[in-house]
Parts: sequence; C-alpha cells; structure tokens
Amino acid sequence: MPDQSSASRWIVVMEDAALDEGEMKAVYPLGVNLVVARVGGQVYAMSGACPHLGCPLFTGSLAGGVLTCPCHDWRFDARTGEFLDGRELHLTMFPVKTARGRLLVGIG
Ligand code: FES
Repeated sequence: MPDQSSASRWIVVMEDAALDEGEMKAVYPLGVNLVVARVGGQVYAMSGACPHLGCPLFTGSLAGGVLTCPCHDWRFDARTGEFLDGRELHLTMFPVKTARGRLLVGIG
C-alpha cells in the first residue's frame, strides 16, 4: 500500500458507505481516471485505464481481490496493482483514507 503520508492533496471521492465489499467504481479526483475497490474491508485506489489498450477497468469484474479487464481478460491484484500474468506491468496505486464517513484519495 502506498505511503499515505506522501500524498500532497487528499480529494474526497465518495461516501465510504457507497462502496460495498467486492465492489469497484470509477472516480475522477482532479480529473484523474481511477478505480476504487473494496477488498477484505480495505479500500484501494488504482489507475482506471488498462495498461494494455486502455479499456475502463471499472467495467470489468472483481472477484477475490482480482480485477479482470473487460476487454481481453488481463488480471490485476486490486490490492497491489500487480499484473498477475507477468511482471512487466503494474497498475499505479494511490493512497486512500477515510474521514468523517467519506473516502479520500491522495493525488500528487
Ligand atoms: S485493454 Fe485490458 S486486457 Fe486489453
């Protein structure tokens, strides 16, 4: 998980209760295309475009912490961004925190 103290700006992206376990949603803090996903009670934020051909990852599936791209089934660990079918790619992860019932993502 990225170091939460390193984010220069924390941006509210949604109410914490709006993201259920095993669910993911697209968010755009400061116009940055991200996906937030709740896995094992923890929320993770990652780049929202697939590094293969740019398909929107939030339209894929999330099961057992594995995010599968809807276009060609590339698989990523939603907790780390790791590409599960090779080591050459990685989703960029962003720090997440909660405050007053809201989810914030660290940008910058
Ligand atoms: S665009 Fe995601 S696997 Fe091809």
